Amino acid sequence: MKFEFYNPTRLIFGAGRLPEIGKITKNYGRKALIVTGGGSVKRSGAFDRVVSSLLEEGVETVECAGIEPNPRITSVKRGAQIARKEDCDVVVALGGGSVMDAAKVIAAAALYDGDPWNMINHGQQNWLPPSKALPVITIPTLAATGSEMNRGAVISNSETKIKSFVLAECLYPKVALVDPELTLTVPKDQTAYGVCDIITHVTEGYFNNRANTPIQDRFAEGVIINAIEWGSKAVADGNDLEARTQVQWASIVALNGWVQAGAKGSSPVHMIEHALSAHHDIAHGAGLSIISPAWMRFTAKVYPGKFVQFAQRVFALKARNPEDTECALEGINRLEEYFRSIGCPTRLSELGIGDELFTQYARDSILVSHDENGKLPGRLPMSEKDIVEILKSAS
Ligand code: NZQ
Ligand code: ZN
Repeated sequence: MKFEFYNPTRLIFGAGRLPEIGKITKNYGRKALIVTGGGSVKRSGAFDRVVSSLLEEGVETVECAGIEPNPRITSVKRGAQIARKEDCDVVVALGGGSVMDAAKVIAAAALYDGDPWNMINHGQQNWLPPSKALPVITIPTLAATGSEMNRGAVISNSETKIKSFVLAECLYPKVALVDPELTLTVPKDQTAYGVCDIITHVTEGYFNNRANTPIQDRFAEGVIINAIEWGSKAVADGNDLEARTQVQWASIVALNGWVQAGAKGSSPVHMIEHALSAHHDIAHGAGLSIISPAWMRFTAKVYPGKFVQFAQRVFALKARNPEDTECALEGINRLEEYFRSIGCPTRLSELGIGDELFTQYARDSILVSHDENGKLPGRLPMSEKDIVEILKSAS
């Protein structure tokens, strides 16, 4: 193992902590751009509570509302314009992953020369991630992406139909204020999609890394086992604050870099899902619950070992030997059944997606991420044809 770990985001976690936002924010600026989505934070009252806490501490507020799920680069540009015009010096993201991602890129775009789309890796020759950004404070209202405590953001371009990511140190939020009470209003379907996203963030590293990583494996399995257990409870009863709390903690550790330290793999399931949601505007977690088991079956046939370990440790299945393909596939079936049990789709047809654009999704995934052989990186690198096969098996 050889790695470097860095995560400068201060994490403030716990039910009932939202009113601390004013005191926190005044350390970073005097005028906050509050970024929000389609209205859930207005309906829940969270927005008003944030504004009054900020005003109490002498922080002025300006809003950029209307960030859509699968946030668009046009919204980022609009937000950056508001930040510049209003001379905002800090950005507060109040919402799900889409709002947080947009807010991070808005914070960078406000200080960026040129077209903000150049920051996003969309296959261009000169990828120009940002080197500076306004300070960002994240307040997640949905447990899923882990965006609140990482340096990534995912943005879509509805003209080119590419959805892709930017990774940059300046995008680490200064503070993540995580109050699980804010997630009590998340509907069942989004709760389930979030659980699927959490699990997939962990399985991407777990199944794709090649190093010997016994400690990370146990971390990963612990996060998965808990996401499964508490995820079911949160879906069954949205008012179960303990379940909401555990799921939200899982969402943070799943993608703040800790579980992946020394065990970083590629993220082929995410790359394929991003291509799908760019074309069909589906919920990220819903796409993952379809692609993830299909990709696992594709890889497990060639590299069953890690899948056997997963089946044994996560689902307590018995293996005849460490390469027992049958056991490996049964573990994948169990995970797929779990996704189904919490209400996630597991076939493309459930979302009304046919096979017309399979080659296009494959091309788009490879455009964004490819190895020296032009394949989508993964434990088993994938050609365009392989990705189409995976998609067919998920039809
Ligand atoms: O827009 P509003 O009205 O706020 O409603 C949202 C939206 O309709 C709603 N919602 C959020 N919090 C709520 C709530 N409804 C009721 N009560 C609440 N407390 O949920 C819907 C979905 O929100 P969204 O932010 O899109 O979901 P999620 O958090 O799953 O974020 C998905 C986005 O993050 C990207 C995805 O690709 C997708 O674009 N990702 C970002 C990552 C990162 N930055 O590290 C990693 C992920 O792998 C992922 O790719
Ligand atoms: Zn994800």
